[in-house]
Amino acid sequence: MTLFRGTVLDTPDDPFLGAPMRAEADVALLVRAGVIEDRGPWAALRARHPDEEVVDLSDGLVLPGFVDTHVHFPQVRVIGGLGMPLLDWLEQCALPEEARLADPSYAGSVAEDFVGALARAGTTTALVFGAHYAPAVDRLFAAAARVGLRITSGLVVSDRLLRPALLTTPARGHEEGLALAERWHDRGRNRYAVIPRFSLSCSDEMLAACRALLDDVPGAYFTSHLNENLEEILHVERLFDCSYTQSYDRHGLLGPRSVLAHDVHPAEADVKLLAAREASVAHCPTSNAALASGAFPLARHVDAGVRVALGSDVGAGTGFSMLKEGLQAYFTQQQLGAAGYPLTPAHLLHLATSAGAAALGLSSLVGDLSVGKRFDAVWLRPAGGSTLDVALRHASSPEAALARAFALGTDADVAGVWVDGDPLPRVGAR
Ligand code: GUN
Ligand code: ZN
Repeated sequence: MTLFRGTVLDTPDDPFLGAPMRAEADVALLVRAGVIEDRGPWAALRARHPDEEVVDLSDGLVLPGFVDTHVHFPQVRVIGGLGMPLLDWLEQCALPEEARLADPSYAGSVAEDFVGALARAGTTTALVFGAHYAPAVDRLFAAAARVGLRITSGLVVSDRLLRPALLTTPARGHEEGLALAERWHDRGRNRYAVIPRFSLSCSDEMLAACRALLDDVPGAYFTSHLNENLEEILHVERLFDCSYTQSYDRHGLLGPRSVLAHDVHPAEADVKLLAAREASVAHCPTSNAALASGAFPLARHVDAGVRVALGSDVGAGTGFSMLKEGLQAYFTQQQLGAAGYPLTPAHLLHLATSAGAAALGLSSLVGDLSVGKRFDAVWLRPAGGSTLDVALRHASSPEAALARAFALGTDADVAGVWVDGDPLPRVGAR
């Protein structure tokens, strides 16, 4: 057993329902076999467990491991393609790189870069857009298992619009997806997701094959893109003769295990449909800003009861840090004025942790640091003398400290990451 000691902030109760965050200075968490067995003031817990090993994280802040609900594994090397709207960016930046993952050894080295980047950012759980090639997806699952991350991912399928090298058929997509799921679904921390790239690149037959694969893999997740860019939306509506949201719904693809990225431009009926289906939205604020996709209508989703979490959307997003995504989410809502949702630091922490766990059906395991949960955690300890270090030392309250972490924190401030109580090997405690 191990006693972790530090200032611990988390959101076991939902700030969007008015709950405050939980902030406890000098608290101890007793962890056995990856599970938090006891939690309380350091002095009291230490007195009860005088002989246990201690991991002292007193300097800085301890948060639940971050949950990234939308991130593309093949795009880690093309982050930063600025100045283009979605469809141009796909054509010029993302898709040429994605075609290179046809080579399994190239895909393997990209997978190593990708899982290392997630761990260094303090992300312990992610819903990952895989590659268009099954061997590349194998490399991703293997790399994630080696590092120890909780990954839900799968083969990305498309049968139109994209360059021919990225296309497959409904039958082949189903067959390769099933084989991947048999190898990786519910193996260790890996789970399978069914992933049509977006309606624009998928025929009705392909979306039907995705539904069939969901039926064949109990517990599998579904993820895709939705209502991201106005030009894209017009194309989809013309092709399917229905709304973008309905293009998925009419194939039975929206449900409690569905996570749709973006939803920047939904009609009111479509927000209601997502709520009725209990589907989640992955809000990707730096991507929306970088591609000028628009400003996410968070208040409309919250009011309708749609579950919302955060995604980095690397590589349209500008990095893996969920602190940066939180800050950009705040900026976006501020800029919307009266239509914006007034996000507090507690909301940002919730979006980056427990909301993601809920979207991925993992709330019973992770998302906060309560007794009974797994110890998936990130330790933010800025370098001495850095601006964040100075700001944290002068913060008047835990809420203020958290706001400073979102304003100033980067991957460089991630001093340790744990999953199931074990330090991730590439990061570890410094
Ligand atoms: N829509 C379809 N593919 C993509 C992608 O790779 N990134 C984003 N942001 N949107 C998409
Ligand atoms: Zn995306």
